[in-house]
Amino acid sequence: MAAPQGPITVHLRRGAASAAADLLVLPVPEGQQTPALAGIDRGLARPLRQRVAAADFRGRTEDVLVHHAGGTRAVALMGLGRHPTDGDGWRRLGARARREADRQGARRVAIHLGAAAADTAVVATVAEAFLLAGYRFDRYKSERNERRRVERLLLLGDPVPAAAAARAALATVDTVVPHVMRVRDLVNEPASVATPRYLAAQAEELGRAIPGLDVEVWGVKRMQRENLAGLLAVARGSREEPRFLKLHYAGAGARARVALVGKAITFDSGGLSLKPAKAMETMKYDMAGGATVIGAVAAAAQLALPVEVTGYVPATENLPGGSAQKPGDVIRYANGKTVEVLNTDAEGRLVLADALALASRARPDAIIDLATLTGAVRVALGGLYAGVLGNDQGLVDALLVAGRAAGEPLWQLPLVAEYRDDLKSPIADLRNVGGGDAGTIIGALFLAEFVDGVRWAHLDIAGPAFSDRDLAHAPRGGTGFGVRLLVRYFQGL
Ligand code: BES
Ligand code: MN
Ligand code: ZN
Repeated sequence: MAAPQGPITVHLRRGAASAAADLLVLPVPEGQQTPALAGIDRGLARPLRQRVAAADFRGRTEDVLVHHAGGTRAVALMGLGRHPTDGDGWRRLGARARREADRQGARRVAIHLGAAAADTAVVATVAEAFLLAGYRFDRYKSERNERRRVERLLLLGDPVPAAAAARAALATVDTVVPHVMRVRDLVNEPASVATPRYLAAQAEELGRAIPGLDVEVWGVKRMQRENLAGLLAVARGSREEPRFLKLHYAGAGARARVALVGKAITFDSGGLSLKPAKAMETMKYDMAGGATVIGAVAAAAQLALPVEVTGYVPATENLPGGSAQKPGDVIRYANGKTVEVLNTDAEGRLVLADALALASRARPDAIIDLATLTGAVRVALGGLYAGVLGNDQGLVDALLVAGRAAGEPLWQLPLVAEYRDDLKSPIADLRNVGGGDAGTIIGALFLAEFVDGVRWAHLDIAGPAFSDRDLAHAPRGGTGFGVRLLVRYFQGL
């Protein structure tokens, strides 16, 4: 698995803005142009002041002013907006610095953080956003953009944090970012490449590369023995074989045992309840939850975090075919529950049911599932927020906090017990769809039926897992949403 870019070394140094760099980035809080230029040498500060005055640069988040200082050197003033102290402002700044660097083909970039560098969180956030914004998925482009050349990022500040603290924060960034990018790669890879077997092979490769990470892959025989009825039912329409992935890492001095469950429908056509063509265009990303679980367990292992994590990833295609499951079919699950499948396009909950029941049996302290489960959550929350629902407010709160800190925000929806009636079937214990209202809540209520006596939260990531337009920190496509959030959550245990 090749990293999508060459390695970039990140350094933190005490000092002002005179350091040698092809591109020097000066973050400017809204309305404070003059102090930001105070540390700059006078030969540079004078023309910058003139340009700032002439260009209506006011330090708003979208304000950028690039000044070419002779030779390959350039200085970019970038607005931080009104709330420069919150993480989002710094995250955007880091991402925009990278975009400017790529545009200019800069090799060495310096960002002048000033007094803000005293906060290790700011240093780490800026570095992380800078690295993440450099992601490209161009392996199918015959002409690649060769202007991406950044080799070194120098973060300048005064004061700077203790060397050990800064080094630890930057090392974490350095470890996590490649996992986010690998998840993006898995999501962006076309579905005819990224099959269940491919996902399994990628996970196995990670297992070989990362000490302490164990990866187990179940084929059809083992699934039959374990009675993974939902996964086998959904897989029936496909010629590609399903796989069930189990990843495990037990950190020394683990403070908690967490189960992660990730939906990995490597292509969702809807099955016999076929989707319209337009709705299918991006359905290669229906495995994003599973990819994120693989990435999060791998990152936890590589960071040697004090947590025990088990990842459960049911992987299959959802296709129509001569032996596909049919609307009206009934699935009998290992825990005895029966489900009438009225819509084969509500397949995610069918495969997650097996995994949640299996995870429950291991009695972990918490189960967190990630799934591109409903179009409805995209309607409700759009492309930037994931929905979170769960049976334990403490767990949901911890995830809300981790999401905010990571810049991967969640919004809670209620698990309305009264709506459970919508899932009643005349011939089985449950049906797999409701009447149409509150689709995201109904999806979660279905999943709750398979969680047995364990604290549980469900992240519906159908919105933020894939972006249909370029974002500051990720180009159009898979975003890797959730990896950084989960790492934060583990760190907070
Ligand atoms: N994978 C889809 C959900 C989805 C839709 C993800 C759009 C990302 C973008 C899921 O399997 C699905 O088809 N859900 C149905 C549920 C319905 C049949 C109850 C949906 O949202 O329409
Ligand atoms: Mn579907
Ligand atoms: Zn789906």
